[in-house]
Amino acid sequence: MQTLHAIVPLRERLRKHRLAGQRIALVPTMGNLHAGHLALVDRARELADVVVATLFVNPLQFGAGEDFDQYPRTLDSDREQLTAHGCDLLFVPSVETLYPHGLKIQTQVHVPDVSEGLCGGTRIGHFDGVATVVSLLFHLIQPDIACFGEKDFQQLAVIRKLVADLHFPIEIVGVPTLRAEDGLALSSRNGYLSASDRALAPTFYQTLSCCRDALSRGQPLSAALADATQALLEAGFRLDYLELRGPALAPFDPAQHVEGRLLGAVYLGSTRLIDNLAVTLTQRSMTDSRYG
Ligand code: PAJ
Repeated sequence: MQTLHAIVPLRERLRKHRLAGQRIALVPTMGNLHAGHLALVDRARELADVVVATLFVNPLQFGAGEDFDQYPRTLDSDREQLTAHGCDLLFVPSVETLYPHGLKIQTQVHVPDVSEGLCGGTRIGHFDGVATVVSLLFHLIQPDIACFGEKDFQQLAVIRKLVADLHFPIEIVGVPTLRAEDGLALSSRNGYLSASDRALAPTFYQTLSCCRDALSRGQPLSAALADATQALLEAGFRLDYLELRGPALAPFDPAQHVEGRLLGAVYLGSTRLIDNLAVTLTQRSMTDSRYG
């Protein structure tokens, strides 16, 4: 696997693949790779001739006081894992390479509607930073396919709208969330958890699962969300949000939707965890209009 840091050699190498008629798949990451990231690489490997991963801790998507400086940077082990999973090319730009004119005057991409609320409500400007860096990577790499994890479900929805609205000729592939054996969604940020918080963390997933099961058994939506909220608070989490949304994250409409997505974010100490699950509602849940 070749590692490139600069744009000109990246474009040269990709031009050769394109001229040879090869399909290119992109897997954008911020590094500190775990099995969740590698599942995206495996999916990309199945779908394309050439797999390109990117590793860039993107300052534009971190708010003031967030963990940009602290974010784990583990290039050597990331390279080893990508090589083992058949990645062909790794692009690791510096901040100056991607944003040569500085962050303050960088042109940014805003994806309205789907960026608002949920994580976008708490992390103001976060999805502008994500949409901007992903647009840059799409322009530089021009992949046929790009893989993103369902773990960051709102991010996936933002990217899908970005691609649709800006007519990027790129197929977006969503990959299901990889979890630890105890159910906790794999995340680079899990490494911030103390041993006792790590032991508590799977309760978040278990509570979401109970809420999903209650909804599919027909418990009214407002009661199911209230029970889950209470369970999380009693377990020791601080709640950021817990919501049911419809397809493509539209507001959940009980008159229209049977399939929904239950999404939550919690804090354990200063570590923020997010997770989400697909939910199929029954008639009784749907007739309850107080849906949170
Ligand atoms: P990062 O958090 O490194 O995640 C890179 C990709 O891995 C994202 O598509 C994310 O959804 C996926 N991913 C993370 N944990 C996962 C898990 N447990 N199961 C499946 N997929 C998982 O998301 C970002 O980076 C950045 O916002 C980025 C898109 C690279 C833009 O900077």
